[in-house]
Amino acid sequence: MARIAYVNGSYVSTANAYVHINDRGYQFADGVYEGISIRYNKLIDLEAHLDRLWRSMDELAIISPMGRRPMAIIFNEVMRRNRIRDGFIYVQVTRGVATRDHGFPDYAKPALIVTCRRLNFDAVRQRAASGVAASTQPDIRWGRCDIKSTALLPNILAKQAAREEGAFEAVLVDKEGFVTEGSSTNMWIVKAGHLITRSTSDNILSGITLARIKEIASELDITIEERAFSVTEAKEADEMFFTSSTNCTMPIVKLDDKKISDGTPGPVAKRLLDAYFDYTDN
Ligand code: PDD
Repeated sequence: MARIAYVNGSYVSTANAYVHINDRGYQFADGVYEGISIRYNKLIDLEAHLDRLWRSMDELAIISPMGRRPMAIIFNEVMRRNRIRDGFIYVQVTRGVATRDHGFPDYAKPALIVTCRRLNFDAVRQRAASGVAASTQPDIRWGRCDIKSTALLPNILAKQAAREEGAFEAVLVDKEGFVTEGSSTNMWIVKAGHLITRSTSDNILSGITLARIKEIASELDITIEERAFSVTEAKEADEMFFTSSTNCTMPIVKLDDKKISDGTPGPVAKRLLDAYFDYTDN
């Protein structure tokens, strides 16, 4: 764990970093967050993450405790104080401290915390070289999965269930049998060299890595179809992979008990991963 955290105006030792027991983030999960990867001291797609954070706050009528520039300065300061070159910044804004009442308080001051941790992207690359297993889990979330809310109980239950089945990620599935997204990732399949991923307007998180991969794919002349795909279609796909800030582009080589293709990572996911690292590292 990194030594220094930013908590409501101060840089404090993580061991002494506390929030109030009446913080609405703690009591109601009344807050939003972002996770941004750091490569060679650079925050990857910072502006897009700030856009999404502001959108999440706006959707919940949380007023940001500060502007985008001062917030970005704090991110850089947390990285610097912890000497993190490659890692992950976690940012959380909650509605703040108030006497417990479900309605919004008119006096609470939003609370901001920023932490970071080291992340070994070589290990991510190694994992991607062999691919991972995933398991399907029912998507029991709400109708506003576009908001990056800290209310993640369905996501953590799905991830835990997947881990107990020996899988690395959970593939969330709606009542009609369509894949929505991963517990903390966006899902893709490949058919005849062509990418398929659910539309981000279809009650999933609009992934920043997903947006970046879409751009990279179009530069590489790889076509993309944005539509829902079923579990059956995924199991018969040529390739399956997921994207997120910490996983970059991660091939799924087995879904439940079914190997995807021959059970090894496919060429499209490999190409996209290489191109993604070219983008983050240059
Ligand atoms: N998860 N879908 C969900 C439900 C997520 O929580 C995330 C991110 C993504 C991928 O988004 P991005 O490409 O912007 O990282 C998709 C972060 C990493 C987390 O919860 O830690």
